[in-house]
Amino acid sequence: MPSDHQAEGLPSSESSSDHELEKQLRDQWIENTGTWIQKDQAVRTGFLDAWMLGALGDVEGRRVLDIGCGEGRFCRLLAGLGAEITGIDLTEGLVERARALSEGVGTYLAGNAHDLAGVDDESFDLAVSYIVMVDLFNYQEAIRSAFRVLKPGGRFIVCNIHPMRMAKVNGWIRQGNRKLFYAVDDYTLEGPRREEISWTGKAFTSMHRTLSSYITAFLESGFVLEGLQEPTPSAAQLAEHPTFDDEYRVPNFIIYELRKP
Ligand SMILES: C[S@@+](CC[C@H](N)C(=O)[O-])C[C@H]1O[C@@H](n2cnc3c(N)ncnc32)[C@H](O)[C@@H]1O
Repeated sequence: MPSDHQAEGLPSSESSSDHELEKQLRDQWIENTGTWIQKDQAVRTGFLDAWMLGALGDVEGRRVLDIGCGEGRFCRLLAGLGAEITGIDLTEGLVERARALSEGVGTYLAGNAHDLAGVDDESFDLAVSYIVMVDLFNYQEAIRSAFRVLKPGGRFIVCNIHPMRMAKVNGWIRQGNRKLFYAVDDYTLEGPRREEISWTGKAFTSMHRTLSSYITAFLESGFVLEGLQEPTPSAAQLAEHPTFDDEYRVPNFIIYELRKP
């Protein structure tokens, strides 16, 4: 299953205060900076990038903000397609790495998706959030900030872990090696899910919210929902990465295509 947030373990303690949870969400990225930089990104390069580029459309000459850009891989890809790119990320080590790899192309800022402090109002044609919403403590504030920095008519493309897959950790019900079905449970119980994920080999916290909560937050911020994708691999992608076949059974990812009127 090609998930960054492969579910294992149990929902984390509900006793954590909001402050502790926000700190945990931030600190785990600092702790795993080096591992993320080394991580194989085949799910993106071999599958999701094509969907994201399709949703973004022509980026040439467009001012694009990648919110939660990590070490800047997607920024570099967009810059190569002619975008005027700015990446912003909370994890300073990842921002430093993005700058080091940028070869002078693009701007990289250390900052929080929640407020996008320092990013001017109505200054971008496109904003991207590439599997970042599950890492955010306050997704509504982040969506409002993305709305603020987009020009009228600007578009916000959000790829996230599918809410069906975030609801229950370790959801595959198996018989021996065979995956029978993916169980969805505690779907309306929003909040942190603590799971051991493959790329860290350790427990990691991600946030679950329902589909209706995300869509309500987008609409209440003022966005128009123009498209909704549940990506599946092409035949060629599947031939190259046979383990992506899970995506035909239960999608791991969802892409929201939004426009600021
Ligand atoms: C799963 S990674 C995705 C990185 C990049 N978008 C990609 O697709 O390669 C999530 C990223 O979100 C960043 N992040 C987490 N919380 C954030 C916040 N509050 N503000 C900005 N970035 C944040 C992390 O530092 C990390 O780089």
